[in-house]
This record gives sequence, structure tokens and C-alpha cells, in this order.
Amino acid sequence: MAAMLICLVLPVLCALCFSTPAIAASQLSNSISNSPRSPSAAGWSWQTWGPYRPNLYFGVRPQVTDTLLMGLMWASGENRQRMLTTLRDTCEQDDGMQGYGWEFYDTRTGGSQVIHDTQLHLDLATNFLKSKDGKNWAVRIVGTPKKGTTDVKTTIILHTAVEKEISDGSKSLVCENKSKSKTGVEATCLGDIAALGKFELQVLGDERNNILQDVVVNSVRVPEEEIWQAKAVFTDQVKSAGGDQMTVKDASGDGNMHFVQMTFQGPFKLTFTYRVPDTPTLDANAVDKGIDSLRSSFSTTLDTVFPRAPPFHLEKYAGFSQAILSNLLGGLGFFHGDSKVDYSNASEYQETDLDFWTKAASAMSHAQITTTSPQTLLSFTPSRPFFPRGFLWDEGFHLLPVVEWDLDLAVSVLQSWLNLMDDDGWIGREQILGPEARSRVPPQFQTQYPHYANPPTLSLIVPIIISKLTGASPYTGHPSVYISSPDQASILLKAIFPLLARHYDWFRRTQPGNFTAYPRPPSSIAGTGFRWRGRTPEHTLTSGLDDYPRANPPHPGELHLDALAWVGASASALQQVAHHLGDAASAQTYASHVKNVKHNLDALHWDPNRNTYCDSTIQEGKYTHICREGYLPLFPLLLGLMDAEHPNLPALLDLMSNPDKLWSPYGLRSLSKSDEGYGRGENYWRGAIWVNLNVLAVLRLKVIGSSQSGPQAVRTKASKLAADLRKRLVETVYESWEQTGFFWEQYSDTTGEGRRSRAFTGWTAAVILLMGLQFGDGAKEGRETSDASGGVMMSLVGALAFPIVVVAVIPALRKKVLGAVAGVVYSVLTWSRARRGGRGYEEVIDLDEYEP
Ligand SMILES: *[C@@H]1O[C@H](CO)[C@@H](O)[C@H](O)[C@H]1NC(C)=O
Ligand SMILES: *[C@@H]1O[C@H](CO)[C@@H](O)[C@H](O)[C@H]1NC(C)=O
Ligand SMILES: *[C@@H]1O[C@H](CO)[C@@H](O)[C@H](O)[C@H]1NC(C)=O
Repeated sequence: MAAMLICLVLPVLCALCFSTPAIAASQLSNSISNSPRSPSAAGWSWQTWGPYRPNLYFGVRPQVTDTLLMGLMWASGENRQRMLTTLRDTCEQDDGMQGYGWEFYDTRTGGSQVIHDTQLHLDLATNFLKSKDGKNWAVRIVGTPKKGTTDVKTTIILHTAVEKEISDGSKSLVCENKSKSKTGVEATCLGDIAALGKFELQVLGDERNNILQDVVVNSVRVPEEEIWQAKAVFTDQVKSAGGDQMTVKDASGDGNMHFVQMTFQGPFKLTFTYRVPDTPTLDANAVDKGIDSLRSSFSTTLDTVFPRAPPFHLEKYAGFSQAILSNLLGGLGFFHGDSKVDYSNASEYQETDLDFWTKAASAMSHAQITTTSPQTLLSFTPSRPFFPRGFLWDEGFHLLPVVEWDLDLAVSVLQSWLNLMDDDGWIGREQILGPEARSRVPPQFQTQYPHYANPPTLSLIVPIIISKLTGASPYTGHPSVYISSPDQASILLKAIFPLLARHYDWFRRTQPGNFTAYPRPPSSIAGTGFRWRGRTPEHTLTSGLDDYPRANPPHPGELHLDALAWVGASASALQQVAHHLGDAASAQTYASHVKNVKHNLDALHWDPNRNTYCDSTIQEGKYTHICREGYLPLFPLLLGLMDAEHPNLPALLDLMSNPDKLWSPYGLRSLSKSDEGYGRGENYWRGAIWVNLNVLAVLRLKVIGSSQSGPQAVRTKASKLAADLRKRLVETVYESWEQTGFFWEQYSDTTGEGRRSRAFTGWTAAVILLMGLQFGDGAKEGRETSDASGGVMMSLVGALAFPIVVVAVIPALRKKVLGAVAGVVYSVLTWSRARRGGRGYEEVIDLDEYEP
């Protein structure tokens, strides 16, 4: 598939590069002739460069630490005052955008982002393209005034910074204003950074541009902690230039930050291009051709990897599907920096006393916070404006679609996360690396605690990777070195196995339920029961389900259903890796863990009177279930720990399909409509529809529905539910996107509208996995059916090599719809302003108050 893509794009590109001599190559070829310090070919790949600063509307950096940062800013070009008040830099929730995002984007090649800046009457495209060898890249910035406003004035600022330039005297970047040159080159910078080698940056104009203010190049040297603050530094420079000037001083030369500013009236085009010595420049033509070609090849490729089955085969879903995947991929960030950790391991953190949360809070308020040494992370991000950093709880869900599209990219991200693990096995649940990331988080939420866990969602992706490596599930994504080489596959699994095992051991060791001090049901297995640390009366942030109701007050004798289920899912993933590596003893150990987990899910957490799965606590000295219907009781099913024969499955199907409980016209509610906490309090995980768990529900139900054993009625009902839920969920996300131009963090169970954070193309993107699912004839799907009972026999999906590998069912369906889809239609989007909100701590504190 990637072969197709590359063949389509790159011949055009390369032909162009060679036939049109790069504009300034002749001028500079002497000064940047091949350097012995250039990285070896092996050091470069399609992954090296990318828009890996997703917190910016557009920002590029390589996956090489302490090198180069690049970004784009723009503002009104009317006058100085207006310029200073409309400067766009980081993605914000409320700066008058009517939507922004990637129309199509592939990490390996590039793509096109469109930003609808209504306030400035401008549509801005950032067309980013990489050369085939991954060494060079360029971004073409195309400004188009909105209809009826052709004389709109816009100032564009391209900025670039050298990291650690002051402390490492061998790095250099020198810029020059070239505005009077006849070559179309407006500015040039020559750089030399050991980890990158020598390179050249150029800003290329366009003869059709109506230039209001000639190019200005401003080179400065600022303290290291300021180089990511382009907006602040630029603003200071403009102010220090004085007068009523709208621009920085023309003062080019060497420095660790460089600004290239130009002001246009009407439409404009500008190209910013990076190249290494002795290679052709990706100039305007090359980018235009490459992007045009990618525009058509991308949709074809997408329809191969994520085919759309009825009713989503309609053309109107093509742009939707593209936008989902592109914005998930476009949220990939590369992060580097120190973080804040409380290593005090205060005795209160054992959380053994009855009022453990007040004691822990008090200990935390006195604890010494450590600033760690810098760490590096390649991660997808939940939302560019609101959560532009890594979250462990989200990442496993991000990787579900990514692994289908580009297995090697998913592996890189998985490994990057596993490499964060400390010797104990801990991975911080929220990765706030470096001052740039920290600037978006209120101080009281910056510290990470090594006794806190988070759902180990990476274990969701491991079995799927194995199924692709073994061929148990088909793979149609980009060519994978791990699939093409059994040796590489084996090296990979050997590398991740001990890390996964260490994290698993850490989880079991640090989140145990207490089996010595409190009564437990006699049939339960001691030691196999868990408790999230970090509870307060209203929150269990560490579980990921924040305000989902649990025992109140909290009790040190609690056992949490989802924590046990996550242990089961992790043990099952480890069992499969061990099996694949031929480590029979470990495989057997993990298999016994899975068995114990399954036993205790029923022994500890099943309440036969209320017919549901529950948390447990201690009340009046007795073992007591806390049963709150919602997502929680579904966890044994969602994490693949129940099969079609399980006696408790019918009760879960009833819970899901009951309109007075979880079943809504838009998807499964997080909390039952009949629960006393429904819609109350912060109302975060108390009714709203979350896409990640709904997607898991559809996939697991489909597996149940197609299993070979188990009561026919159960299988039929599971299929029916899966089919109906699929349709409702995709429609919900689609309709909201169609109306608002955004994907959302959650959706209302009463109106279906998107809520909380917008531009949330993190795990909401997992909905793409459902579009290709097919069900047998007669499945009445969608909102027209008022409940989800009834009989439909599902046809497909016979061969599931791994019972818990749910996504494996999808590729099996692809062939059916291949070829059914052709062409690209870009949906005409209507945009509207929408509410803002938050997640986790934004509930407590309005983050906007804390933003600089
Ligand atoms: C850029 O440099 C040219 C000389 O090469 C100069 O004429 C021009 O004024 C400079 N641009 C600005 C805006 O100062
Ligand atoms: C924290 O303290 C507990 C109890 O003293 C101890 O068992 C545990 O090993 C400590 N953890 C770390 C990471 O030092
Ligand atoms: C169980 O609770 C007792 C009594 O509070 C405490 O001493 C013990 O450390 C706890 N054990 C675990 C594993 O938390």
C-alpha cells in the first residue's frame, strides 16, 4: 500500500527536483557541501521529520533531541496594534477559528492542513511534504482571503530555533535577508548541528504575491528557556523595535532564534524548505505536485486500509474518514524534557488508614518534588489545543487505528512509551516533559506519583501486533519491517517482553487489594484483587474514569473491578508474547494469572442479587458490593475476559440494551440513566458517551456474536447490539463533525452533540475501526430502532486466531468492500462555535486562567 503511495507521489517529485534546478542550490552548494558529520543513512528515516509539535497550529521538529524547532505564526497585517493582538501560535480553544486540521496527512509523506481563521478573514493551508529519503522537507503556506474580503492584510512569521545553542558552542544557524535577490529566495539560513549535519533553510516567495512589507529577518539570542516561546519573544522584539512598526528589526545573522516576517495583501503563497547538502530543494512546484498526488493517493489507500461498509459507503463519509485518521496522525508529537516527580514514597502513600486520602494529601503538600533528568517520548495526543502531550490511558486506544495503517509507526510509539518506564516498572500516567509542556498544566497537576497507576492500555495493542506478525490477522497498511522480517519481529518481541512484564509486576505490586486485613468471599483466590491508589471521595482519576461513582467514603479495603480486569488483559497479552517467543514456562504462568483473574471477577465482583459486576468495599466490617451500573460492570466483557458461554453475559447484554440504563440513541452511556448519580456533579463519566469504550464494546460484542459456541440467543443479541451500536456511534461522531468541524471528547446522550474538548481526535478517532464492519442481513441498525433486542444472525468472522484480538475481525471484512469506493469528495463543512470544557483537572479549575 505504501508502495502505491510512494510510487504515486515520489516519481513526480523526484522528476521535478531533477528537471527544475533548485532555485538557490547553486548559490549555496559550496557553503554546504557534504559534511563528514552528517548522520549516516541509517540514522534517517521517514520518521525523522514531521509536524511533531502538535500544540502549535503548525510546527516542525525532528525526532532528534536538542536540535531544531520550527514554527509558523500569523496575524492581521492591518497595523501594529492589531498585529500584536491577533498573533496566532499555539492551538487555542477560543481564538476565533472555525475549525482547523489535516484534510489528509500521512506520517510517512506529509499532507495538507487547513485553518479557517474567520476573525482574520483568512483560510490558511499548510502543505507539508517530505522527500522520500526523509532527509528534506518543506511546507507550503497558502493564504486565501475569505470570500468578499480580497484585500485582507496578513503578516506571516516563520520562526526557527536551535536548542541548547548557548551551552553547545559547536551548533550554529546563521540567517540572511535575501529580499533583493532575483531568485525568489526571500531569506536563507545555513545551519550546522552535529546531530543533523549541515543544512540549509530557505524562504521562497511567489511572484504573484502582493507584498505590503518586504521580508525582514530578525536573528536573536535568547535564554534557553525562551526558545519555545516564539510568540513572546517575537512580541518583545516588535516592542523593542519601537515606533508604530508592525515588524521586528531587520537584523539577521547568527542566533538561537530567527524570525522571517513578510506582510501581504490578498492571497499569498510562501514556501519554507529544509535540505541537506547535495540534494535538490523541495521547492514550490515540488510541494504542489507532491501534495496534489498525495491528495488522491491518500483516499485510495485509506479506503483499502479502512474500507467503509454500508451505510458508511456513501461519499459523504469519505472526507470524514480522512479527517479522522489524518488528525489522529497529525496529533503525533515528539517530546523531550524533564518532569516533576514526587519520589518521597511517604508512608501515607500506602493508603492503609481509613482516612488515607486526607493523610496522603497532607504528605503530598510537604513532599520534596524531584525534577527528573530529561526523557524523550513519541506519542499521539488526545487533543492539540487542550491535551497536547502523552497520556498513558489514551495511548492504547490511539494505537488501535494506527496499527492498521502503519504497524511500524505504532511500534515506534509503543516502544517509546515502554522506554519511559523506570527500574521499578512505573510509567507516569501523564507525560509533561519540559517547560513547553508544563506551560499548559496548572502547577498542582504537574507532579507525577510513582505509586499511581493508570489503565495499562498498551496491553490492548500487543495482541494485535502479534496477530499481524503471525499473519493471524491480515495487514494492508504501510510496509512493515517487522512483518517482512521474522528476525525483526522476534527482536521486537524480545525487546518489549521484559518491559511489559516489568510494568505488569509493578502494577500488581503497587495496586494490590488488601487480602490480610479485610474479609473476602471464601471462594475467592487471595492476592488476585486490586485497588486503584489515588482515590478521593469524588474521584478515581488514576482509573481513567475520573468521577465515575465508587464507594464513598473511600476505604482501604476496597477492590476495584476495572483494576482486576486490566490485570487480566495485561496477563493475557503477556501470555501471548511469551507463547510467541517459545517461553512456555512464562506463558503458563500468565495463563494461570488470567485464569485466576477470570475466577475472581466472578468470585469478588459479581453480585448475584443485583445481577451485575460491582466494586467492593468494607461496610460495618463486612465485604460489601458497590454496584453502580455504567461502563464499570462492562469491563470483564470490554477487556476480552468473557466468552459467549459465560453465565453472566446475558445480564450485561440486558444492561447495555436497556434504554433506561445504558442504551441511548447516540451510543452507550457511561452511567445508567437510572443511577442516582446520572448527570450529576461534574458529569464527566456520568452519562456522556465516550467513543473509546463504545468502540471496544462493538468489537467485543461482534466477537461474541460470531463465536462458535454459547447460547444462540446470546450470540444473536450480541450481534444485533454490535450492529446497532456501530451505526449509532459512527453517525453521532459524523453528525457532530459535520456541524461543528470538530471531533469531540465526548458526546451528549440526550442530543448527540459533541462536548468538552474540541479538536479531540485522540481516541475519538477509534470510531474509524467501526466503519468497515459488516453484519448479516436483517440487522436493523441505527436510531430508528428504539431498543436493541431482536434477532439477527451475523455471518462473518469465523477464524479468530486470538480470542481477545478483536480488531483482527476488521481486515477480514475488507475484501468485501474493496473497490466499492472510489474518488474523493470533500465534505462542505459548516462550522459553528461550540462549548468548551475539560478533562480531569479542568473540571476543578478552569485551565484558561492558568494559561500564559
Ligand atoms: C532586506 O535586505 C535588503 C538588502 O538585501 C534591504 O534592501 C531590505 O530593506 C531588507 N529588508 C528590510 C525589510 O529591511
Ligand atoms: C516505598 O515504601 C514502601 C514501604 O516502606 C516499600 O515497600 C517500597 O519498596 C518503597 N518503594 C520504593 C519505590 O522505594
Ligand atoms: C492491609 O491492611 C493492614 C491494616 O491496615 C495493613 O497493616 C497492611 O499493610 C495492609 N496490606 C496491604 C497489602 O495493603
